[in-house]
Amino acid sequence: MSSEPSTVPLSFERLEEPEMRARADAFFENVRRRRSVRHFSSEPIPLDVVERCIEAAAQAPSGANKQPWTFVLVTDPDTKRRIREAAEEEERGFYGGRAPQAWLDDLAHLGTDAHKPFLEEAPALVVVFLQRTDDAGGRHYYVHESVGLATGFLIAALAHAGLATLTHTPSPMGFLSEILGRPENERPFLLLPVGYPITDCRVPDIRRKPTNEVLIRR
Ligand SMILES: Cc1cc2nc3c(=O)[nH]c(=O)nc-3n(C[C@H](O)[C@H](O)[C@H](O)COP(=O)(O)O)c2cc1C
Repeated sequence: MSSEPSTVPLSFERLEEPEMRARADAFFENVRRRRSVRHFSSEPIPLDVVERCIEAAAQAPSGANKQPWTFVLVTDPDTKRRIREAAEEEERGFYGGRAPQAWLDDLAHLGTDAHKPFLEEAPALVVVFLQRTDDAGGRHYYVHESVGLATGFLIAALAHAGLATLTHTPSPMGFLSEILGRPENERPFLLLPVGYPITDCRVPDIRRKPTNEVLIRR
């Protein structure tokens, strides 16, 4: 016999339209200023802020509410050094032949190479893992979509809280499971150095697609 699912009252704040517009504009301004930072100051950051942002990320929707994510917050200098060394070794292989020329051409405007000092210089790294199954082998659903959404929440929350990030995907990333001792059901998803940019930090001069290219109205 199936019982009724248990429910709770929705906590939803109905806003006046001017307030809706003000909030949409404020969020837009905040995310518009967000840029990937590749030059981090080593200045310490308030880790409680990072942890709160991870809690915000963990509020994301997920397939069947399985919450198939794990966030590892790394601040230990020795662990960061090991991650940098392993990432640079993989990235030397990537930039030195494994990546197809077309991919390298697409990356050229960013000026990236196998040198990843930010992995040690940033005061914190958040390594995001996806859980292919739960600990007991039970199914998870839409894992990449769910973890991508949670990571988007995380990047936006960190930017909103005044911290810079880089979305980094050293290729391949298996070394992160080993260094961080993650279980067999988890796979590295991506790595976010978190901190303050160096003074006078510069970023690639890039453009967003215009709205009429990304928004179709029907
Ligand atoms: C899934 C994903 C993987 C990325 N991997 C890398 C990376 O490994 N190294 C890097 O320097 N930037 C990486 N980036 C950052 C992009 O290059 C960057 O987001 C893009 O150029 C737009 O710049 P912006 O983030 O400053 O707006 C990645 C971004 C995403 C979304």
